[in-house]
Amino acid sequence: MDNLLEIRGLQIELPRGKNAVKLLDTVDLDVRKKQSFGIVGESGCGKSIMVNTLLQLLPYPLRTQAGTARFDAQGGELELISLPPEKIRRIRGREIAMIFQEPMTCLDPIFTIEFQMREAIEFHTTQSHHSTQDKKEQTERCVEMLRRVNIPRPKQTLASYPHELSGGQLQRVMIAIALINNPRLLIADEPTTALDVTIQAQILEVMNELKEERDTSIIMITHDLGVIAETCDEVAVFYAGEVVERAPVVALFHETAHPYTLGLLHAVTSMGAVEVESDRTAGVSRQLYTIPGMVPSGGEWSKGCRFAGRCDKRMPRCDEEHPALAAISPQSQSGGGHLCRCFRSASKATV
Ligand SMILES: Nc1ncnc2c1ncn2[C@@H]1O[C@H](COP(=O)(O)OP(=O)(O)OP(=O)(O)O)[C@@H](O)[C@H]1O
Ligand SMILES: [Mg+2]
Repeated sequence: MDNLLEIRGLQIELPRGKNAVKLLDTVDLDVRKKQSFGIVGESGCGKSIMVNTLLQLLPYPLRTQAGTARFDAQGGELELISLPPEKIRRIRGREIAMIFQEPMTCLDPIFTIEFQMREAIEFHTTQSHHSTQDKKEQTERCVEMLRRVNIPRPKQTLASYPHELSGGQLQRVMIAIALINNPRLLIADEPTTALDVTIQAQILEVMNELKEERDTSIIMITHDLGVIAETCDEVAVFYAGEVVERAPVVALFHETAHPYTLGLLHAVTSMGAVEVESDRTAGVSRQLYTIPGMVPSGGEWSKGCRFAGRCDKRMPRCDEEHPALAAISPQSQSGGGHLCRCFRSASKATV
């Protein structure tokens, strides 16, 4: 396999009586080895359910209705969606690790950090008995990993309980746990949204360093195009359960094609002014410019373009036909080309 991960025709549904509501609609994505792939889009677009289904962690009653996800695992190629439970358990944490916005979703308040880090190591070790020597080596591995994510006093931190650490420290501990088994793919689902800007920048730097050092690929999910610009080499923009634009990161920012992506970019560039205003009034940390209107939820998608209702470049055709995700520039040498799901960019592409 050339790529690390190849998602094809992925569809996720919410069963409702005899019918089903589609939540993710025929998504295709490739993640290359050593790549940092960004996924961006407003709340409810299907970003989390897509990555959750890769590890068979889809919340009940959602189900993967169609599609495959081929993964180049250490022991050979696997199809993740149909993998038996005992096999997917060996993939989780060892070959594919996930970190979340809220560290406490994966840390247990009643155990020390050391206990939880060891547990992560031991789950994927075949030996069941450990000598004193093994234990010493494990502790060293934990200390080393905490040092790598810039935890100032690693030994002290190992002996701490989660409530004794700050949000930024917990986030680092979670990254350390995620990376301790050297996964081939790290999925970060909004890992920095809950943190202040300085800590956020530090965490992103740590992730970038680790990627370079260990050749880990990263899928970075975020609302924030600034985070994408800093960490990713390719980006997929999600809207209403589908990919509306996919491009190398430079092309996404400099040759933005989809009106929705333009709206997201406008939100970033306008942020400074709004932030000051909101800080002054309500003490709210961030208020983004938002594109007027709301993302339609599953079951409320129009037959035409799903963004048409909010689009200032809408044409009559947009209400009637569903645009395809079409190439608007050829594959670059580094991999992916530039794809866009909009009639306007499709007509421009014909050379
Ligand atoms: N357990 C569930 N039951 C029913 N619907 C669900 C469930 N989990 C998610 N959904 C729906 O699936 C859709 C996609 O949700 P998802 O969590 O993937 O969005 P997201 O893009 O990650 O949003 P956010 O940026 O807020 O995290 C939403 O419409 C959501 O309401
Ligand atoms: Mg989410």
